[in-house]
Amino acid sequence: MIRSTNKAKGNISSVFAHLGASKPEIDPRFLELKKQIAPKNPTILRKAFDRLLNTMEKEALEIRQRGSAVIPEVTMEEIQSNGGRLPDKIISEVKKRGTIVIRNIVDRHLAAEYKSSIQEYIHRHPGIAGFPEDNPQKVWEVYWSQAQIQARSHPNFTATTVALNNIWHGDSKAPINLNNNLVYCDRLRIRQPGDGKFNLAGHIDGGSLERWEDPEYRRCYTKILQGKWEEYDPYDVTHRIEANMDLYDAPGGCSMFRIFQGWLAISKIQTGGGTLRVCPLVKEPTAYFMMKPLLEENMSTSEFMGAWPGRCQDITTEDHPHIVDNMVSVPDVDCGDGVFWHCDTVHAVEPYQNMTTDSSVLYIPSTPMCPRSSKYLKRQRITFEQGMTPPDFPANDCEKEFHDRATPSILTKEQKLGMGFIPFPEETNGIMTEGQLEAIREHNRIISE
Ligand SMILES: [Fe+2]
Repeated sequence: MIRSTNKAKGNISSVFAHLGASKPEIDPRFLELKKQIAPKNPTILRKAFDRLLNTMEKEALEIRQRGSAVIPEVTMEEIQSNGGRLPDKIISEVKKRGTIVIRNIVDRHLAAEYKSSIQEYIHRHPGIAGFPEDNPQKVWEVYWSQAQIQARSHPNFTATTVALNNIWHGDSKAPINLNNNLVYCDRLRIRQPGDGKFNLAGHIDGGSLERWEDPEYRRCYTKILQGKWEEYDPYDVTHRIEANMDLYDAPGGCSMFRIFQGWLAISKIQTGGGTLRVCPLVKEPTAYFMMKPLLEENMSTSEFMGAWPGRCQDITTEDHPHIVDNMVSVPDVDCGDGVFWHCDTVHAVEPYQNMTTDSSVLYIPSTPMCPRSSKYLKRQRITFEQGMTPPDFPANDCEKEFHDRATPSILTKEQKLGMGFIPFPEETNGIMTEGQLEAIREHNRIISE
């Protein structure tokens, strides 16, 4: 068995304190960390936070008035007819809102076929783990069905991720290639009508305490920690590439650089049908949850407000009311549409599924090529070859003996590229930046080791 970490068996509930995971103690050393990283003059953050509250109150008026409609939408056709890039008017909206709905990524009928073939796969193999444990029917520990492999590498899905990646920017020497997206293999949700158990409260993935504790991760937020949150750029990749988002080998940590989280709908999903909820702003909520634990009145405790080692960042009514009060559900989507949200977007899942049909998605993020992602891709590839659970997920290895799971032999050339089986071309035509080229060379070296 090849597994460099030993995740416990389990399901998605091990990630979330409010689904039953325990809350560890916060070590007193975190009080020292607070003193080390907060401005020496407490009025700097106080004034910055007051300006922030002012801005958030103004934004709240628009969010409450427009609801789900504040979330920008674009069609696959608009991206294609714009040379594979998001239209400019959409880029500024996505940058502000952090979330986007993309219509018609996959043909509606094909997306419906994905779901029925996955349901058949699950029925053929009783006993697959999932959530909830006593009667898995929501988040299945399934990674290697044929449909998931097809969806993750669908040409339109790849084009979507490249368009999204490219609204980010960074230092030209930073080793990342936003034009090459790698495939991150995650699970899926089939949420039945009436369900009230898969109820994820507000949170942010990508670690919790790590944002303050890891020096490189913290550099992403330098402007915020200096009280100059207005100058913070959430779309600068420079310090995210090497940021350590998982200092505690947390269940639920993502070892790739997941620039946007995302899902592809494999059913109709209406608002109220157990769909995603987001705070439709990026800069302001990030400034809020990053600065608040460092305000003078919160400097006598080691608590970082919703952050525990080995857990995602919880966003709560108690600690973050200005964020929680301004969350909206994503608009109705059809089968084959996708929703993507920035890696620092505060998100949740509607508590109840009130449709009469299932509410189902394949979780597929946008994960551009950079050394960290390439290293994980190599480990993921090995688990795929052996039919084991990918390294980031609970080690159930449910699909190991399934003869009908996807195997490397069925992959097309495009799928092999995304899954790390064959190298990417190293085009030295002068168009690529130093960093882009380095990312490709490093990728090819890592996957061939
Ligand atoms: Fe999440």
